[in-house]
Amino acid sequence: MRRLIIAGNWKMHKTVQQAVDFTKELASLAAGAGVEIVLCPPFTALHGVAEAARGTNIALGAQDVYWEDEGAFTGEISAPMLKEVGCQYVIVGHSERRRYFGETDETVNKKVKAVFKHGMTPVVCVGETLPEREAGRTEQVVRAQTEAALKGLDAEKVAGLVIAYEPVWAIGTGKTASAEDAQQVIAYIRGVIRELAGDSADKVRIQYGGSVKPENAAGLMSQPDIDGALVGGASLKPDSFAGIIKESGKV
Ligand code: PGA
Repeated sequence: MRRLIIAGNWKMHKTVQQAVDFTKELASLAAGAGVEIVLCPPFTALHGVAEAARGTNIALGAQDVYWEDEGAFTGEISAPMLKEVGCQYVIVGHSERRRYFGETDETVNKKVKAVFKHGMTPVVCVGETLPEREAGRTEQVVRAQTEAALKGLDAEKVAGLVIAYEPVWAIGTGKTASAEDAQQVIAYIRGVIRELAGDSADKVRIQYGGSVKPENAAGLMSQPDIDGALVGGASLKPDSFAGIIKESGKV
């Protein structure tokens, strides 16, 4: 049985104080939830959220990482630093990183390995753009991204991964993939993982991301291959994020 994982990706939102206040409010709204909850604040708020989340059911994640442990890489943050501050998860290869910051399939793979090396879980994002979908290339794109991200990983590592299928055209646009469409692509990704790592495919958790809100969460989460959500906009307010957690917990 794969446990649902609902993660909030705050992107470049929230000061330390706002992040801490949010975490305390969410902790009371989501106490006893039947799903795993992860918050991914900006780097500056990781420590504050870690303190505020201590003793609650909220886990901590980062939004990105650099693959070297240390060195002359101005502006970057390493996996040991994220581990020390209390991160259990690290988002890798978000479409905004790929689009605006030059992330490639190759750097995603290096980052995935760095995250595992330091005992954390990568949340690997894959997904097609609108032109790719319209050209009928969705499967080809998610296959290439998934194969590249998992290159060189043994089956045990693959089983521990989280993958987030995020169609780029559904991110921040209010357009959600239908539950059936999301299910179809996610089942396809699971099939690709089966080719690469056999039965680990039954253990890897695959989230859907892209305009998830309380109103569409239950429909998405009740699909057999969808194991959680990566939530952007609707994770910025405690009541909407708690609503998604509650709706998902009913499934
Ligand atoms: P969204 O973002 O929920 O605002 O569409 C999802 C994401 O980018 O992870």
